Amino acid sequence: MDVFEAMSTCRAMRYLESDPVDDELIERVITAATWAPSPGNSQGRDFVVVTDPDKKRIIGEAVDAVMGDRVAAMDRPDRTHRLMLDGTAHLIETLKSCPVLIFVCGKAIYPYGAPRDSFVWSAIYPAAQNLIIAARSLGLGTVFTTFQGVAEPVIRDTLDIPDDVHIGCMIPMGWPARNFGPLTREPYENVVHRDGWQGDLRA
Ligand SMILES: Cc1cc2nc3c(=O)[nH]c(=O)nc-3n(C[C@H](O)[C@H](O)[C@H](O)COP(=O)(O)O)c2cc1C
Repeated sequence: MDVFEAMSTCRAMRYLESDPVDDELIERVITAATWAPSPGNSQGRDFVVVTDPDKKRIIGEAVDAVMGDRVAAMDRPDRTHRLMLDGTAHLIETLKSCPVLIFVCGKAIYPYGAPRDSFVWSAIYPAAQNLIIAARSLGLGTVFTTFQGVAEPVIRDTLDIPDDVHIGCMIPMGWPARNFGPLTREPYENVVHRDGWQGDLRA
């Protein structure tokens, strides 16, 4: 699939089938993630791939315990909010049966003499985005989440993630149970400023 098609149809996929995903495909998407740039090519990110049913259950239940009621209670003022929050509620309920959970993690290793946490995120997010686009091109659904934040002690304990490793995001991945499709995004002309902030692109 053309990369532009993959990017322009790469919706957050919160409905995933429980069918397993072959290790070969997991390896392909994570290899694509390793191709992402990082500050000074420091590559200070790693990937924890979870397919073990018990570990997924523990993590899914821990996230659900905090987020389940919270998401259920959130306002759904319009269709967009309703679809997103219903999808989020479904994702949380089904995390335990999602075939693969991928945690993109990073350690402060850059700049080498005086490492800073801000550079950790600079390594994590390009890698996570590469992963998501690669998965989409293979027909796999993913969604960026920061759910790990609400259950971090349980996740660290379950996956033996050391304290000096930041957990940047948790990406559930599986075969999509809904359609990929066009995205709702601001168009080019609304976000580009030609030759300065006030510049009108169409002038
Ligand atoms: C850094 C980041 C964190 C996100 N965290 C969550 C999350 O915790 N839960 C969730 O359901 N979606 C999460 N999302 C997905 C966004 O809500 C989604 O990409 C956005 O609403 C656009 O939706 P679309 O891709 O379907 O058009 C996150 C996205 C990003 C980039």
